Amino acid sequence: MDIEDAIRHRRTHKVYGGGAISREVLEALINAATWAPNHRYTEPWRFYVVHGADKLAAMDRHVQAAFDASAKDAGEGVGRKLIAKKHKMTARLAATAAVVVVTWTRTPDDQAADREDYAATACAIQNLLLSAHGRGYASLWSTGKMLMQPALLEFYGVPGEATDRPESVAGVIFLGSPTGELTGRRHRTAQAVTTWV
Ligand SMILES: Cc1cc2nc3c(=O)[nH]c(=O)nc-3n(C[C@H](O)[C@H](O)[C@H](O)COP(=O)(O)O)c2cc1C
Repeated sequence: MDIEDAIRHRRTHKVYGGGAISREVLEALINAATWAPNHRYTEPWRFYVVHGADKLAAMDRHVQAAFDASAKDAGEGVGRKLIAKKHKMTARLAATAAVVVVTWTRTPDDQAADREDYAATACAIQNLLLSAHGRGYASLWSTGKMLMQPALLEFYGVPGEATDRPESVAGVIFLGSPTGELTGRRHRTAQAVTTWV
């Protein structure tokens, strides 16, 4: 696939059509991710893979519990919205082939390095998304709060931000087969955001 086509035609998918993804493909996607630029070769990214029906069902149980707990603490209106979101998330997870949680290793005592490491990790995620697109898979980069609740981080195995090797989640990546259903805007305007000096 031509690189310009891949960049332009990779678009966020929020619903998937079921189907599986092999471990080999997931390994290839992560391999592509690790070729991202990173300052001082810190290779700050870490990947936590939720793969297989059992693991995805377990993740769903944790996500549902997180939504239920938040809905219980919220007022009635917000609670109802959270329960609707929970159902949407459960339907999404049921049709998802794999989830890859991408974190970056934090350096809280060096803000500049920390920012660069987040930037490098974002590049790694874009590599992963493009590689998935090139192989015919649909994806979503999510930073949904409910996917990062403490019980979920424990389930993924992500060390918390308060540990001696802190990591933060840069994205929870859903992967699945495309259904053709897209939600995002389809145009961008480079001209409006460019200053020719
Ligand atoms: C850092 C980051 C966080 C995002 N978090 C979410 C999210 O929590 N939920 C969601 O539906 N989409 C999320 N997205 C996806 C964007 O909404 C999506 O990229 C945008 O709609 C543009 O669509 P496109 O990827 O097809 O160009 C996120 C994207 C980025 C880069």
